[in-house]
Amino acid sequence: MENELIIEEIKKLKVERNAVILSHFYTRGEVQEVADFIGDSLSLCKAAVSSKADVIVFAGVHFMAESAAIISPQKTVLLPVPDAGCPMADMVTAESLRAAKEKHPEAAVVCYVNSSAAVKAESDICCTSANAINVVNSIEEREIIFIPDKNLGAFVSLHTDKKIHLWPGFCHVHDNISEENLEELKKFHPDAEFLAHPECRPEVLKFADRVLSTSGIVNEVESSGSTEFIIGTEREIVRNLKRKYPGKKFYPASEKTFCYNMKKITLEAILNSLQNMEYEIHVPENIRVKAKRTLDRMLEISR
Ligand code: 13P
Ligand code: SF4
Repeated sequence: MENELIIEEIKKLKVERNAVILSHFYTRGEVQEVADFIGDSLSLCKAAVSSKADVIVFAGVHFMAESAAIISPQKTVLLPVPDAGCPMADMVTAESLRAAKEKHPEAAVVCYVNSSAAVKAESDICCTSANAINVVNSIEEREIIFIPDKNLGAFVSLHTDKKIHLWPGFCHVHDNISEENLEELKKFHPDAEFLAHPECRPEVLKFADRVLSTSGIVNEVESSGSTEFIIGTEREIVRNLKRKYPGKKFYPASEKTFCYNMKKITLEAILNSLQNMEYEIHVPENIRVKAKRTLDRMLEISR
């Protein structure tokens, strides 16, 4: 079927099912065209809570859809491609976290939203890239186990006096950006503002003018007086920004910033999802209730 026909069908089914499509910025351009809301992890969580729809189709990866199912149990949450996962989220398990808690019994666990429901259920509070510093500084404990992203954890540790135990997880998309990439780009584009996601390595973040979540990067381009930017995050954002601001120049920090899991979500998969109500996210109630507490606690301080 041609894209136009698929899009027509999707629009019809959205009305019939009282469904919304929530999309992360890293999905394919054509997927973002059918989305009702596009945002970063934090704004997607908020959108899932405030939506009046009966059905949420999540154009993103598993932990995002799962978070929506955790905080909005009365809604049906669908992930169009069940194996669209996040390799970083798989770098921590509930078992390995329990072992770390035994090793550091005084520490609170701050858990990046890129994690499974079972891991969230074992944690004290969640965070996203947009609020990680505020979350860490909002809690009483002086010692923190920060899971699973070592790069985000290292960035946060520069903005707090708390003792942070880092976890050895990372996002291959952002970790692919190297110091050499930046040295080269800065040489050729000395006036470009470098906007970096905090999942980048510390040696890369040293070059950053601003360290921001994906929504933060998009908003900064809109409000900044600069006309040239080096973008340190997934390359779909670079494409979006080029389309939206044809008068400004954008350079990807690396050509290798491709999240293949986000790209698994296609228009065909969304159509199938709405036609057959696939693939519904189910979280066991005992885990969901505990995981919801960690997400609610985060949302409480991120209004
Ligand atoms: P944000 O959406 O919080 O910017 O994080 C990016 C990410 O890695 C999503 O998987
Ligand atoms: Fe996971 Fe990185 Fe892809 Fe985000 S960009 S979903 S952290 S692999």
